[in-house]
Amino acid sequence: MSTVCLIPAAGAGTRLAAGRPKAFVDLVGQTILERAVRGVLDADVDAVVVAVPADLVSEAQALLPDCHVVVGGAERSASVRACITAATASFDVDVILIHDAARALTPPDLFRRVVDAVRAGAPAVIPGVPVTDTLKAVEPGGGGERVVATVDRSVLRAVQTPQGFAPDALARAHASGGHATDDAGLAEAAGIPVTVVPGDLMAFKITTEWDLRLARMLLESTGVR
Ligand code: C5P
Repeated sequence: MSTVCLIPAAGAGTRLAAGRPKAFVDLVGQTILERAVRGVLDADVDAVVVAVPADLVSEAQALLPDCHVVVGGAERSASVRACITAATASFDVDVILIHDAARALTPPDLFRRVVDAVRAGAPAVIPGVPVTDTLKAVEPGGGGERVVATVDRSVLRAVQTPQGFAPDALARAHASGGHATDDAGLAEAAGIPVTVVPGDLMAFKITTEWDLRLARMLLESTGVR
């Protein structure tokens, strides 16, 4: 039985405005995608399936000879489903991880924490970190936005990846063919209990130019190649 990690990397990455899909942007001598895959393989994951835009399949396969590369879909959830189909056809899987390529600096310990929780019996496991800012709910008004309420941040978690699933739970979560910003959202909608384990600040998502600068600084300051 094996642990397989699915990496949806087929987004356009328009918020980064780097001129090419985010996963293929350089991050200190390697693409964001290569760095993400390296983190996965350092965590003793047995196989990696990556979804990329159709015109980048050959480039991705050349960069990632140890990975199975598939064509992604129009939405993140569709890209994940393309990876699930490939993974379940090729491997005898007991834990499926789903990891955003954009969380390229995720430490191996976080992968292990999520896998251990699935192996301990949780059908769906996500990493979460406490929210530090004060949060306000707003609505349009007053020529801009108007505060409706201050939200109790003590019950909130900012959710990261890798998200881990027992294979049957993930199949049930995606059976609806629905779309969500993460896979746990589909699991919740299917009535599957979702367990939160402590996340890691290094698993932040590279979304904006600011995040990319931060990732470069972190890599350069630790001398990682
Ligand atoms: O847009 P966002 O940053 O939330 O995307 C999260 C992840 O999903 C990224 O790694 C992105 O490449 C991936 N994605 C995908 N297929 C899409 C859209 C996003 O694989 N159609």
